[in-house]
Amino acid sequence: QWCDAAAGGEILLASPRSFCAGVERAIEIVERALERYGSPVYVRRQIVHNAHVVRRLESLGAVFVQEIAEIPAGATTVLAAHGVAPSVREAAVDRGLKVIDATCPLVTKVHNEVRRYRSRDDTVFLIGHADHEEVEGTFGEAPDHVVVVEDAAAAAQVRARDPERVAYVMQTTLAVDEADEIASVLRERFPAMSAPRRDDICYATTNRQRAVRAVAEHADLVLVVGSTNSSNSQRLVEVARRQGTRAYLVDDVSEVDLRWLAGARRIGITAGASAPPQLVEELTRCLGGLGRDRLRESQVADEDVQFTLPREVG
Ligand code: F3S
Repeated sequence: QWCDAAAGGEILLASPRSFCAGVERAIEIVERALERYGSPVYVRRQIVHNAHVVRRLESLGAVFVQEIAEIPAGATTVLAAHGVAPSVREAAVDRGLKVIDATCPLVTKVHNEVRRYRSRDDTVFLIGHADHEEVEGTFGEAPDHVVVVEDAAAAAQVRARDPERVAYVMQTTLAVDEADEIASVLRERFPAMSAPRRDDICYATTNRQRAVRAVAEHADLVLVVGSTNSSNSQRLVEVARRQGTRAYLVDDVSEVDLRWLAGARRIGITAGASAPPQLVEELTRCLGGLGRDRLRESQVADEDVQFTLPREVG
């Protein structure tokens, strides 16, 4: 009945939103692995950071574990989209697992950069959140060379063994403006620093942040569909708030608090790259009873990125 509270209002849908190419690929890998090899298929960590996706794949026969040691020897195992440290791959080989790698190719690109810089003996500043699984994996490529830099204050303090031999890389799901600020502090301190040839923050993160900013500008309230452990969803909430708009993260429509809707005539809606599109549809339908004419979509970019599947499931 809380839908009534939005009556008379307008829904502004941000676009692009929801699944990115890396998430679609990771989910498809698990589905195909189940079809081809049968259940159970083990998945190390959440395949993507979304509770609904994980529950659905569990219902199809996927078994999610935290560590390789929990998987029976020889079992089919999928490595999650965020990527892993080489030590995890080695542990999987030692256990005789049949490994299918669902690491997003854009995360793999960052791992390759770290390896390249390490081979030159550079200190590598990894701009990102130390406790995020993607950063754990990227860090693991060269623990003796990588220094995680979480914010501008840390960037002002970090040291390099040789200031002439430094480089930086980024977590793919950061807030673009914050990451730029951190990189510019580092650049000022280390003028010789090498930068990635192309931005590490991925196209999907960038587009979703631009889209939510465009919507937040005109909305009284922004609802972001995504799970709390989803970095890129959290960043969407922050970007909307920096625009001066109230914003909340919800896993699905059931988490919307009636009180948020009071006085909100224009409600912006978006979803993180790991959140299924049908959750957005449920939310708009519920807020909707309003009819299509009150639904406006603001598209800031076209997306046609597609990645090929690994040969084990191709
Ligand atoms: Fe890949 Fe970016 Fe999605 S790194 S998994 S395309 S959010």
